[in-house]
Amino acid sequence: MIPSPVPSSPPPLLRLRSARVTDAPLIAEIYVEGWRQAYPGLVPNTVLLQLSPNAQARQWAVALARQGVAESVVVAERANGRIVGFGSCGEARATRLPQAGEIFTLYVASDAQEQGVGRAVLWRLFDTLLDRGLNSALVWVLAGNPARFFYESMGARRIAERTEHLWNTDLPQVAFGWDDLRAVPRDRSPWPR
Ligand SMILES: CC(C)(COP(=O)(O)OP(=O)(O)OC[C@H]1O[C@@H](n2cnc3c(N)ncnc32)[C@H](O)[C@@H]1OP(=O)(O)O)[C@@H](O)C(=O)NCCC(=O)NCCS
Repeated sequence: MIPSPVPSSPPPLLRLRSARVTDAPLIAEIYVEGWRQAYPGLVPNTVLLQLSPNAQARQWAVALARQGVAESVVVAERANGRIVGFGSCGEARATRLPQAGEIFTLYVASDAQEQGVGRAVLWRLFDTLLDRGLNSALVWVLAGNPARFFYESMGARRIAERTEHLWNTDLPQVAFGWDDLRAVPRDRSPWPR
């Protein structure tokens, strides 16, 4: 059977673009929702309860205004202007691991998950890293976060473990890595189902 070609540009239902400062409130909303979905039992409940979309929006606005060499932020936007996911990447932060780039964040709104948005954002982050000459990447995930299965299904392999101590809590984490971003199979349509 002849494989159907992977479309070279997204259909109008989802657009991937660089984030702007004005996206900060929507990014913050997805970020807070993502933490409250993914981290119960992994980080203290008080931390999750105290997360404030307004405070996060202010922090994201500052980060987006500074966006550039250190961090690039990508959003997935529906045709109606609603942002349904975002991610950020840059040079790997202090690490003894060989991967040059790092995925810092990746969050998809709960009602938009399992529709291919995470994959589409991740692939755009890979392209962003490749454009900057960073041909390999890693991502740190809390060890109990089911997102680790997502990264495995995106071709990453488990490469390291560490435990951070924050909020009086041990936070075991696992790193997943891609040794060559150019070789990550992209045989699926990256656009949402
Ligand atoms: C992890 C996350 C970004 C995945 O985004 P998504 O849009 O739901 O994922 P996609 O629909 O693009 O999934 C792509 C593939 O990964 C698989 N997948 C996604 N999440 C998975 C999970 N938790 N367990 C197993 N497989 C998963 C999908 O089934 C799909 O498989 P396919 O290629 O066979 O179709 C999203 O679930 C999320 O935002 N979670 C909460 C926040 C979080 O934990 N972020 C990561 C912080 S490091």
